[in-house]
Amino acid sequence: MRSLMNTVLVGAQWGDEGKGKVIDFLTEEADAVVRFQGGSNAGHTVVAGGRKYVLHLIPSGILHDGKHCIIGNGVVMDPFDLMKELEQAESWGCELKGRFHISERAHMVMQWHRAIDAAEEAARAEGSKIGTTGRGIGPAYAAKVGRRGLRAGDILKPDFADVIRREVAEANRTLRALGAHELEADEMARLYEPVVSALMPYVTDTIQLIHEFIDAKRPILFEGAQATMLDIDFGTYPFVTSSNPTAGGACTGSGISPRSIDRVIGVMKLYTTRVGEGPFPTELDDADGETLRVRGGEFGATTGRPRRCGWFDAVVGRYAQRVNGVDYWALTKLDVLDTFPVVRICTGYRRKDGFVYTTFPADLGALAHCEPVYEDLPGWQCDTSKTTSWDALPANAKKYIERIIELVGGKIGVLSVGPGRETTLRINI
Ligand code: GDP
Ligand code: IMO
Ligand code: MG
Repeated sequence: MRSLMNTVLVGAQWGDEGKGKVIDFLTEEADAVVRFQGGSNAGHTVVAGGRKYVLHLIPSGILHDGKHCIIGNGVVMDPFDLMKELEQAESWGCELKGRFHISERAHMVMQWHRAIDAAEEAARAEGSKIGTTGRGIGPAYAAKVGRRGLRAGDILKPDFADVIRREVAEANRTLRALGAHELEADEMARLYEPVVSALMPYVTDTIQLIHEFIDAKRPILFEGAQATMLDIDFGTYPFVTSSNPTAGGACTGSGISPRSIDRVIGVMKLYTTRVGEGPFPTELDDADGETLRVRGGEFGATTGRPRRCGWFDAVVGRYAQRVNGVDYWALTKLDVLDTFPVVRICTGYRRKDGFVYTTFPADLGALAHCEPVYEDLPGWQCDTSKTTSWDALPANAKKYIERIIELVGGKIGVLSVGPGRETTLRINI
């Protein structure tokens, strides 16, 4: 089935909702998949033919022969991470020539951005640490906004090595102030020599390319990384990433008009997880949290860190529906809840004085003294991982999902009941 639509897909919570799996599933009906923000902080998993593939920078459509995969201008790309990933994709048998493209406007994460990321994180006091992935994302976006970033197109220029030397001198001032090791300018310039020939064939004008697809009415899938609650504007600032993973980011991160977007799909886990620091109202520190972590395999796809786990948060879901204009939800990991006698949905955050927040507050201090308000529903306590249709789901699982949709708005489009490609149910789309 082909949708003939341009689709933006975003994460609704704090990341790791299963975006990679859903992108892989939807790629059959698209001609191109475009990443529009973030970098190799993302870890998107696809399980196909019993094999697990983890993608960090390359769009998750790469496993489908012939589909174009584009790194848009809004991405920050570490050339070494990308080179490693391209080699890996080739070892999987993916043909890259002619179908993998990098925007000449995409900024590069350089070695000094990674060094500054680590040094800044080390310098932060306990309680203020962000728990970044250490991939240099914040410093690379800071360089972009500060108008001193290096873009993919710069590798084609004859003065690339000189620019590196100049930027290393600048970065060393920051590293010195942070008490971190300084970098050697000539060594850095040499380090980047192989990047030029490895990436040059892929660097192109992706804005032109994307508009050729749009003009020819060839459907495009825009793949968000991270998620709404990690968005630099809408997330739990400052415990966020440094880009806009929300739907608007698809326009600024790829060069399309909002009018070119036909539908927005939000990916949402049927419980909640978070990696790194920052507020998480429904977090569980008990046996239920451990059950979610173990049954859900909740360990970071990029850093291997155990993910924090908790009940479904409908305040977050509603907020994500509004901020992104989610038309359809791809709901994931229903099977992980199979053993619970009771499943809980958070509908608000209650302050000590009795006031209940039903929208996400900007002031994180306010959240610190809140208790989640829960609605309890009976569990289904049977295996849903082999379900192939909505009708075949246990009644209590349907009730749980329907209540969530009622609280957050939008419609259900996809339901996922396991990690494999085949465990994906198409519902309304
Ligand atoms: P992403 O960053 O949003 O692409 O998500 P990740 O790949 O980081 O994390 C999602 C994890 O859950 C991966 O290990 C997936 O293979 C797995 N997964 C996705 N959907 C399901 C599901 O419905 N059930 C189960 N049990 N695992 C799933
Ligand atoms: P995907 O695309 C989950 C988190 C980090 C940290 C914060 C800032 O796989 O869903 P950064 O390195 O971006 O400066 O870290 O954001 N984070 C993610 N958490 N999934 C991700 O990506 C994430 N990318 C960044 O843990 O709390
Ligand atoms: Mg992930």
